[in-house]
Order: sequence, then C-alpha cells, then structure tokens
Amino acid sequence: MPVDETETQVILTHPSDPNTKVTILKYGATVISWLNKGEEKLWVSEGAFLDGSKPVRGGIPLVFPVFGKQKSEAHPTFKLPQHGFARNSTWEFLGQTTANPPTVEFGLGPEQVSPDLLKLWGDGSYDFTLILTIKLEEDKLTTLIDIENRGSKEFEFNWLFHTYYRIPDITDTLVNNLVDQSCFDQLLAEEYTEKSPVISFHEEFDRIYQKVPLDKTFQIIEFGKVLFNLHRINLNDTVVWNPWIKKSEATADFFPKNGYLNMLCVEPGNVSSFVKLGAGEKWQGGQELSLGGEIKVQTNI
Ligand code: BG6
Repeated sequence: MPVDETETQVILTHPSDPNTKVTILKYGATVISWLNKGEEKLWVSEGAFLDGSKPVRGGIPLVFPVFGKQKSEAHPTFKLPQHGFARNSTWEFLGQTTANPPTVEFGLGPEQVSPDLLKLWGDGSYDFTLILTIKLEEDKLTTLIDIENRGSKEFEFNWLFHTYYRIPDITDTLVNNLVDQSCFDQLLAEEYTEKSPVISFHEEFDRIYQKVPLDKTFQIIEFGKVLFNLHRINLNDTVVWNPWIKKSEATADFFPKNGYLNMLCVEPGNVSSFVKLGAGEKWQGGQELSLGGEIKVQTNI
C-alpha cells in the first residue's frame, strides 16, 4: 500500500523502494520523517511532543498566518501565538490524489482550528481554506500550500515551511547562493547584505534572507558533497536558523542538548511582508527538497 492511514498519522511509501517513505502527523500536518533508502533526512528532537499537546520540535512544521510574534498592536495577527495556529491544529486528511508518485492532501479551515486560537486572529471571523499537498518521489520531497480566502473581507498572512534538515555535523556544513542578498539578522536586529559566498556556522544563527530571486537554489553542502537542494515556488524569503548551545539548552523540548550539531533549519516562506488575499482570491507556495547532485554556484549576474 503506498499510503497508510492511522488515527494520528499518514505514511507514504514509494512504490519502487519500501525504505523510501514520508510520515505526516495529522496534528499540524507536520512531516515528521522523510526516509530515503532507509536514511532519515529530517531532524526531529528526541524531546518533541507527538501527542498534539505542543507543536513538533522538528520535521516540517507549518507557519501560518504569522511568522514569529507580531510586534504591531494594530495588526490582526498581534494576539496570535508565535508562528500562528497551523502547526498546532489537527488537519483533515483529504486522501491520496496520485498513486505514483504517492501524493496526498491535508486541509485546514476555521472548523479545524480551536475557537480559542481562531478568535485571536482579527475578530475571529476570517474564512479560509488551506490545502497542503505532499508528494514523495524517489530522491525528492515536495510540499505545496494552496490558500483561499473564502470570506468577504481581505486578510493578510505570512507562510513558512519550517524545515529541520538532519545533517552529519553543523560545523562542517555550508549553504550557498545567498551572497549579495538582503538579510535581516534577528539576533542583531539589523538589516545588511550577505557578503559570504557560502554560509558557515560557528554560533547561534537566525537570519531572514529577503526577496531572494526564485531561480536561486540553495544547497546544503558538506565536504564538497551536496546533501540537499532547496527549490522554492513563489516563496521569496528564506529563514536560516540554528539555535546553537545556549538556545538549545533553554528550549525544553530540544533534545539531546547537543542536537543542534545535527540540524539546520532552512525555511522558505513569505515573512518579510504579509501576503494580502482579497475575498475569493487564491495563492500558492511550495518547496521542493531534492538530494545530491553537483554544486551549482549562482551569482547575481
Ligand atoms: C525560526 C525563527 O524560524 O524559528 C527563530 O527564526 C525561532 O527566531 C525558531 O527561535 C523556533 O521557533 P519556535 O517557536 O518553534 O521555538
């Protein structure tokens, strides 16, 4: 069976390899495992809650309708918790759309969100449909989000795929193709232009690369070997995050405490500004994660 459903999870298995699978928790429609030929590609904390009591620390949590915590009191997302409500709502499994490659859909509307959370977004009357599509190919995982405003008034949202990659060692890891891009450093609260041809990691790292052209593919590289390629669909910003030592210590569900060595978040989204969606309008964004291949250096020319 390429798609198995339990009460809490959906598991897709690739028809050509029983050890290539993706597991999605209905809670948050969170991808919690991507196994490629028996090897895990995503990082999930050993202290993550998978029982629906807290967003999952790891995998691919979904951020909507606000990234981080909104600072402007006047904005309708101000009262929402950090990263919104998509990652802590139980999505409806809508079923399989194709058998090969195995593809499934999950849906979220106001009826799936707890009334206590929903009322924190504006006056609680926005009407929306979110459809998440997950497609598993042999060496590739695609996650697509379709958002429709089903109400009679405009709303504004951020979207982000908060992908936690599993990597052998952060101190040997590089990310390319962000050079000359504008970035907002969340730790310094400063905006500047990235000057490193490749990014490396030696301390806590939390930057939002803003309005990066969509033809740029980011590669996660170790010792000259491409581990992952990230291609974005209509997602202009990318957050790069590693909590390092102190923040991992301070994060209760982050375990083991030296797990920061084996994870890196590269999170495509629209977070430097809000997407406006008028009544009846639709929007789509997505990420394609693929494995291996050649190093491709993309400059701004
Ligand atoms: C990242 C943010 O996307 O998410 C960080 O850039 C934040 O600032 C991190 O710390 C984790 O957030 P949370 O809410 O899952 O602890």
